[in-house]
Amino acid sequence: MKMLITGGAGFIGSHLCDKYTKEGHTVLCLDNFMSGNLMNIRHLLDYRNFKLIEGDIRNYELLDKVMRDVDTVFHLAAQIHVDRSYIEPQLTYEVNVMGTQNILEVARLYDAKRVIYASTSEVYGSAQHVPINEQHPLNAPHPYGASKIAADRMCYAYIQTYGMDISILRLFNTFGPRQRDIGYGGVISIFTRRVLSNVPPIIYGDGLQTRDYIYIDDAVRAYDLVLNHKEPITDPINFGSGTEVSILDLANKVIGFCGKKDSLRPIHVESRIGEVKRLIADSSKARKLVGWEAKCNFEEGLSKFVQWYKDYGLEERIKIE
Ligand SMILES: NC(=O)c1ccc[n+]([C@@H]2O[C@H](COP(=O)([O-])OP(=O)(O)OC[C@H]3O[C@@H](n4cnc5c(N)ncnc54)[C@H](O)[C@@H]3O)[C@@H](O)[C@H]2O)c1
Repeated sequence: MKMLITGGAGFIGSHLCDKYTKEGHTVLCLDNFMSGNLMNIRHLLDYRNFKLIEGDIRNYELLDKVMRDVDTVFHLAAQIHVDRSYIEPQLTYEVNVMGTQNILEVARLYDAKRVIYASTSEVYGSAQHVPINEQHPLNAPHPYGASKIAADRMCYAYIQTYGMDISILRLFNTFGPRQRDIGYGGVISIFTRRVLSNVPPIIYGDGLQTRDYIYIDDAVRAYDLVLNHKEPITDPINFGSGTEVSILDLANKVIGFCGKKDSLRPIHVESRIGEVKRLIADSSKARKLVGWEAKCNFEEGLSKFVQWYKDYGLEERIKIE
């Protein structure tokens, strides 16, 4: 298979590049390195079936060249940072909505067999009922979530209008090796860096806001099951562990796994505007349709992540700086 993985130098995209390159598929990794990192894919550059294309999904002409004979598109490239989306809503819209529109349009033009779109649980906003199934209202309170809703719905419109085979994956908070803490990284990497540097984690508000975390291996398996599903999956599909973890609990667990229980405690600052209060997934559709369930529990994943961070994360951070 010839695959295009947009955002392939990012956290989740690079794990997909790893898997499919090593399985022998032809993998085109398209990334503009806005938040991606060459270190995530450097080891793949020697593979003849892997090609890195440094470019932007906002560049329609580039996509027109790259996507001519691609069978499958994994579309992950996005401006993913919620905080940045407050400061740069226009950029967030251009990348996440117009960039996705470009991908869909070129995929339509060249009859791509399947497009797999990285939507997100952030489209739901705070839970109005738990667990959150795919029928939950789309109430994202921030420009990032709003842009992901627009792109998610644009995928749906292309399915309905043109009969395209597009899968819309709504993964809940994904974590694991290669998730960076530079700039606005994921909360787990930020906490881990701080704690390993002997600085307390900062919690916005009381820390009782919750998230549903899935480990990267489970996320990759979700993508792979969707890829290999024979029939098109035309409705959005949730992937979450079904376990609710509060930010306070997360901070204390990171402190514990880093061995700093006796010296550090989280500090609390004012809550952030628009922060989602509760997220917990109902993934029964994923289980029924593609046989997916989270296999790695939160503590096991967190301990693997902290170990990776100790081995590589701090060292990489120093190299980058
Ligand atoms: N990490 C999560 O918890 C999570 C959960 C659900 C959905 N998602 C979605 O999965 C996707 C990947 O997220 P991630 O966590 O790996 O983030 P990431 O920031 O590591 O990856 C995004 C990648 O897209 C690239 N990119 C950004 N703008 C681009 C552009 N204009 N052209 C080309 N490349 C561009 C970045 O450089 C980066 O490599 C995103 O679409 C995100 O919304 C992430």
